Amino acid sequence: MKAIEINIKIRLKADNELDEVEKDLIEKAKQATFRSYAPYSNFSVGASLMLDNGKTITGSNQENCAYPSGLCAERTTMFYANSRFPDQKITALAIAARDTTGEFTKMPISPCGACRQVFIEVFHRQKAPFKVFLYGTEGTYIIDSPLDLMPISFDSSYL
Ligand code: THU
Repeated sequence: MKAIEINIKIRLKADNELDEVEKDLIEKAKQATFRSYAPYSNFSVGASLMLDNGKTITGSNQENCAYPSGLCAERTTMFYANSRFPDQKITALAIAARDTTGEFTKMPISPCGACRQVFIEVFHRQKAPFKVFLYGTEGTYIIDSPLDLMPISFDSSYL
């Protein structure tokens, strides 16, 4: 039997170590949590992303009384960006969340599997990686590529 080892680099930054782009996108993701529609889970997620042209776009989770009809903040934001600006590459995405206490999570928020699959599609579509910033009050994970969040993934080459 052979073992396959996968090495992934995730940097953990304290607030005072964030650069200007990281700070700006994280702040926008935090603000977006206040526009979340989450009456069922009371878990408010915000996302913000930057396009190649410097424009930023924000979104939040949008729930539904028929639970599976809702959508996560990450996909709401990415689908909006790709539908409005299909030729602009996404260069970075930040995510923040407030839990049922209304406070920002201590640990960085972790995107769900379905959102990671969409990150991978965006990566292949734009033929370029984008950074992912996962915010928590105790530190932010800085990830250089969506591949690091899903190193083994399904893509269109299998079809
Ligand atoms: N949610 C997101 O928007 N993003 C994530 O990364 C994880 C979960 C949403 C889905 C649902 O509205 C609520 O958080 C609780 O799962």
